[in-house]
Amino acid sequence: MADQIRVLVVDDIPETRDHLTKLLSFESDIDVVGAAASGREAIEMATTLNPDVVLMDINMPDMDGIAATEQLSATVPSVAVVMMSVQGEADYLRRSMLAGAREFLVKPFSSDELTASIRQVHARERDKASRIAATTPLVRPSASGPGAEGSDELGQVVAVFSPKGGVGRTTVAVNLAVAAATELGKKVVIVDGSFQFGDVGVLLNLNPRSKSIADLVPELEAGDLDSLDTFVITHSSGVKALLAPPSPEMADLVTPAGIKRIIEALRIDNDLVVVDCTAYFNDTTLAILDVADIILTMLSLEITSIKNMRLFLEVAEQLGYEAGKVRLILNRADSALGIRVTDVENSIGRKVDETIVSDGRSVVYALNRGVPFFLSNKEAQVSQDILRLARTVTSSDRSSAPAGDDSRKSTQKKSLFAWR
Ligand SMILES: Nc1ncnc2c1ncn2[C@@H]1O[C@H](COP(=O)(O)OP(=O)(O)OP(=O)(O)O)[C@@H](O)[C@H]1O
Ligand SMILES: [Mg+2]
Repeated sequence: MADQIRVLVVDDIPETRDHLTKLLSFESDIDVVGAAASGREAIEMATTLNPDVVLMDINMPDMDGIAATEQLSATVPSVAVVMMSVQGEADYLRRSMLAGAREFLVKPFSSDELTASIRQVHARERDKASRIAATTPLVRPSASGPGAEGSDELGQVVAVFSPKGGVGRTTVAVNLAVAAATELGKKVVIVDGSFQFGDVGVLLNLNPRSKSIADLVPELEAGDLDSLDTFVITHSSGVKALLAPPSPEMADLVTPAGIKRIIEALRIDNDLVVVDCTAYFNDTTLAILDVADIILTMLSLEITSIKNMRLFLEVAEQLGYEAGKVRLILNRADSALGIRVTDVENSIGRKVDETIVSDGRSVVYALNRGVPFFLSNKEAQVSQDILRLARTVTSSDRSSAPAGDDSRKSTQKKSLFAWR
């Protein structure tokens, strides 16, 4: 059958090879075309048998799975490698992904996990191949920017950040993206910059197991972002989403330089790139904040949120961010919690730029259904507040020069990190 997934099994232990072959023989869409006992044999067999997927053991004498994967990526690039290992540590995972593996399975794994991984990597590779063949690359230095044809203009990068967790970053980021796409007709991509425990997929009801930023790592290493479109999932609203990795230990795979390059690439072909950030400062968050044109800095009417905001504003000043780049967004601004908006403004020494009302009913109901409230309850005040915010950010002039005074900033960053 034309649609069969051709699999090559590679493991130095004969019983494991037999066991895997037997397990896969029960699957009607999977065909085990061969079994190799070493990395070297795997390369020879892959060259002649041309499998779709290689199931590769990481620890083998002679040539290990990582070295074999590296060679396979160079000689038979159409092959997708699923690495198997008894060690689940981040270092193994990172080295495997950098060698070109597409998926990582920690032994022992269930037969469901095994077959799901094989099907996923195969579908992804097929998807990628057909997109590369059928479409103009998403990222080309000479590509026209978003908006009018022939325009060189880059999309606006909006980071949604807060120096304290749980204040509504993901809620605002997701609904802002949906509002800009559905009401303002913008080409929007949302990036889950919370690599460890990202929630963007949950709010949009999209599954990171099928595609996530982790799959982009080998592409980044190869210096090739041509097929970035393959790694985003398109939501029914039209918003494209680059999700966080499916498991927390994969978070380290994305480096600060990597996320910067991804964002720079996405802004070429989108009007708006919304990034949902984590609530703590690390190199990756700083890289996102640096590259952003606007930082929507969220706070709530809580004393801890206000205190952290004061500290953040000092840091932003030291980083040399221009005044217009940092916007203060007060979420749940109408909550009667004993602190008023004017108290907040007096405490942090500057005006709040935008407010969003509290609406637990709409927000939590939408969250639990995996449908953004902007779609399910557009008339609600909270949705109208989000729309106003979307209008403001999409009509703003870009306030920062991304390539400007980087050296000054990096010196300042070093001294900032010395506090920790
Ligand atoms: N305007 C609002 N009205 C009512 N509830 C809200 C509002 N904004 C956010 N919430 C609720 O507050 C909680 C935290 O929101 P959210 O997950 O978006 O915050 P976060 O800053 O992304 O948190 P985390 O630090 O976990 O990433 C959620 O339960 C969400 O439904
Ligand atoms: Mg969040």
